[in-house]
Amino acid sequence: MTAMTSEEKHVSRRGCLKSKWARILLAVLVFIVLCAAIIPAVVVTTLRKKNSMGPKSKVFVPLYVYPAPGAWTPLENVISAHPDVNFTVVINPGNGPGPNSLPDANYTREIPVLASYTNVRLLGYVHTSYAQRNISLVRKDIETYAAWPTESSNSDLAVRGIFFDEAPQQYSAQSLTYLQNLTDLVKELKGFGSNGFVVHNPGAVPDSRYLASADSTVVFEGTYNSFQERQGANLFTDIPDSNRTQLCAVIHSVPDTVEGSELRGLVKESRKVVDELYITHLSTDYYASFGSKWTEFVDLMAA
Ligand SMILES: *[C@@H]1O[C@H](CO)[C@@H](O)[C@H](O)[C@H]1NC(C)=O
Ligand SMILES: *[C@@H]1O[C@H](CO)[C@@H](O)[C@H](O)[C@H]1NC(C)=O
Ligand SMILES: *[C@@H]1O[C@H](CO)[C@@H](O)[C@H](O)[C@H]1NC(C)=O
Ligand SMILES: *[C@@H]1O[C@H](CO)[C@@H](O)[C@H](O)[C@H]1NC(C)=O
Ligand SMILES: *[C@@H]1O[C@H](CO)[C@@H](O)[C@H](O)[C@H]1NC(C)=O
Repeated sequence: MTAMTSEEKHVSRRGCLKSKWARILLAVLVFIVLCAAIIPAVVVTTLRKKNSMGPKSKVFVPLYVYPAPGAWTPLENVISAHPDVNFTVVINPGNGPGPNSLPDANYTREIPVLASYTNVRLLGYVHTSYAQRNISLVRKDIETYAAWPTESSNSDLAVRGIFFDEAPQQYSAQSLTYLQNLTDLVKELKGFGSNGFVVHNPGAVPDSRYLASADSTVVFEGTYNSFQERQGANLFTDIPDSNRTQLCAVIHSVPDTVEGSELRGLVKESRKVVDELYITHLSTDYYASFGSKWTEFVDLMAA
């Protein structure tokens, strides 16, 4: 009897619970509906905040670091950590491809590792001495890079274009013919893939007639202080016949005090003007190792 009463109570309590559950269910449904209305707005606002870094630029790396075992690891780490960031990496085995048909064993071990990442474009270093270097020798250097995959029987031992250092700033028809001759060669050699990439480095804004002869031009290579001066003078927005997709900047000697929000501001301002960017806090041998804020810089490029 007592058991029966208890069960009845139980049952009636269940009924009470049922209506309670219905109310809870209703509350949950209302909550879900509200969430569905609010969350997208929050997400969009958050994304907008993220996008406030402006257009994405590629990380440009003058990798004049000898590939002793482990020496390129800081680069490989950020490349694999940021598959959504593109990297343009210049390698320089010996002031060019070096004297032999293939670079040494440290290079032949490490280049295919970098080349295998889909977000990496490797370029071979060549200098032109402001279009005064014997063009036959420059062409020979370019052909040496292009022959690496066949010489090594390794399709990953390859670069995808050429970085021309010491490109001229002042215009001359002869220099333009010289540069266009070299660009045509890079474009036609199969060893660079279907469309070899050409970067010129005059280190400053060159005569605009040169711009079309390269895919990208380094319009600034210098210290943080001079970058601030030139940006203040709106130098980069004034480049005629061009837009940011053809421009690259290399900023070194950034003071250690430029970190956190200040570094963020520098990266943001630079991304507005150039499609490829390198920033380092090193003030000597800037390209021979990675600076103290290397990963912070790449994180900001990914933001
Ligand atoms: C590779 O680099 C290491 C460390 O710098 C060096 O000892 C070695 O001789 C190099 N190997 C070749 C083949 O140059
Ligand atoms: C990175 O490169 C890939 C392949 O070239 C391209 O599709 C993609 O849009 C690039 N992303 C950025 C952010 O530049
Ligand atoms: C350029 O180099 C080639 C090949 O070494 C040589 O035959 C030619 O004489 C050189 N030209 C000049 C102007 O030095
Ligand atoms: C490019 O330069 C080389 C070396 O001077 C020359 O032999 C070749 O004819 C030039 N090509 C063109 C298209 O001008
Ligand atoms: C500027 O960018 C647009 C779109 O990417 C491109 O079509 C155009 O050729 C560029 N301008 C120059 C002068 O290269």
